[in-house]
Amino acid sequence: MDARRVSSCSSASMILLFLVATLAAYSHSSEAAVTKGSFEDNFSIMWSENHFTTSTDGQIWNLALDNDTGCGFQTKQRYRFGWFSMKLKLVAGDSAGVVTAYYMCSENGAGPERDELDFEFLGNRTGEPYLIQTNVYKNGNGSREMRHVLWFDPTEDYHTYSVLWNNHQIVFFVDKVPIRVFKNNGKPNNFFPNEKPMFLFSSIWNADDWATRGGLEKTNWKLAPFVSSYKDFSVDACQWEDPFPACVSTTTKYWWDQYNAWHLSDDQKTDYAWVQRNLVIYDYCKDTERFTTMPEECSLSPWA
Ligand SMILES: *[C@@H]1O[C@H](CO)[C@@H](O)[C@H](O)[C@H]1NC(C)=O
Ligand SMILES: *[C@@H]1O[C@H](CO)[C@@H](O)[C@H](O)[C@H]1NC(C)=O
Ligand SMILES: *[C@@H]1O[C@H](CO)[C@@H](O)[C@H](O)[C@H]1NC(C)=O
Ligand SMILES: *[C@@H]1O[C@H](CO)[C@@H](O)[C@H](O)[C@H]1NC(C)=O
Repeated sequence: MDARRVSSCSSASMILLFLVATLAAYSHSSEAAVTKGSFEDNFSIMWSENHFTTSTDGQIWNLALDNDTGCGFQTKQRYRFGWFSMKLKLVAGDSAGVVTAYYMCSENGAGPERDELDFEFLGNRTGEPYLIQTNVYKNGNGSREMRHVLWFDPTEDYHTYSVLWNNHQIVFFVDKVPIRVFKNNGKPNNFFPNEKPMFLFSSIWNADDWATRGGLEKTNWKLAPFVSSYKDFSVDACQWEDPFPACVSTTTKYWWDQYNAWHLSDDQKTDYAWVQRNLVIYDYCKDTERFTTMPEECSLSPWA
């Protein structure tokens, strides 16, 4: 814990820091990390440090995009399997062209062999709905997009966006509601990322060449900077250590790796069915123009 941060702390955040330190010390004694530290304990800035601001207690990070650049941060650790979540509040007003992202990736760059799990929030003109795009990459191949509208305005408040990842399924959650289920088939395959540990990333950038109405709506730079805010990162996962950590091959110890996390619960199925009926804008598995033969994973039932 560095002196600069401690000296600027209020007493309330001193208590928080104490709790964080206690939690961090505790998690050292177990194999899997369950920590809610300050951003600086667990993240490093990937690019454009001068486009970040933090709340005085260090718990909220604001990422800004202007016509010069966006910015991004990533976890210091990699993880393989677990539960990952973050609260985000997105750019309000006219955010057309702006993409806010929260994703996991096995590499620091866009390497040709990367595995990746994406949440991307595609901005829109004032009053028009944000879209949330999810994608799954294995060995550099994505092209598994889904798009949803949300049932709330993601710019008004913080909402929780989470990923459950084990060897049986990947589930994307919005406030505990499963919006997407991506199943494994239990065989060697070329669609389910399950071998490479991943970092977590968050970033904001300009994508007005494709993001809003397919690129028709351009970013209005007069309104810059565009700011999205992140807080409450929490991870309950297997933290990677080379050559491999002890937590990597257990199905008895961690809830996210056990039988109940291999499929949706009955309540989750009800929520998921509602999302499927009402909020799906695009599903690559239904895109018969794009795929003359449907990808193998599209035949796997999310209800199993
Ligand atoms: C966050 O950082 C602390 C301090 O370095 C570390 O003990 C903890 O395992 C990290 N938490 C996660 C979720 O990686
Ligand atoms: C970028 O924004 C700055 C400040 O608003 C402005 O002075 C400049 O002309 C802009 N540059 C471009 C390329 O739009
Ligand atoms: C933006 O709003 C338009 C009009 O309501 C809608 O068609 C589109 O799907 C929305 N989202 C994006 C990201 O284009
Ligand atoms: C990439 O993934 C898509 C979707 O699963 C699949 O249709 C396509 O064949 C894959 N491409 C390659 C080169 O493996």
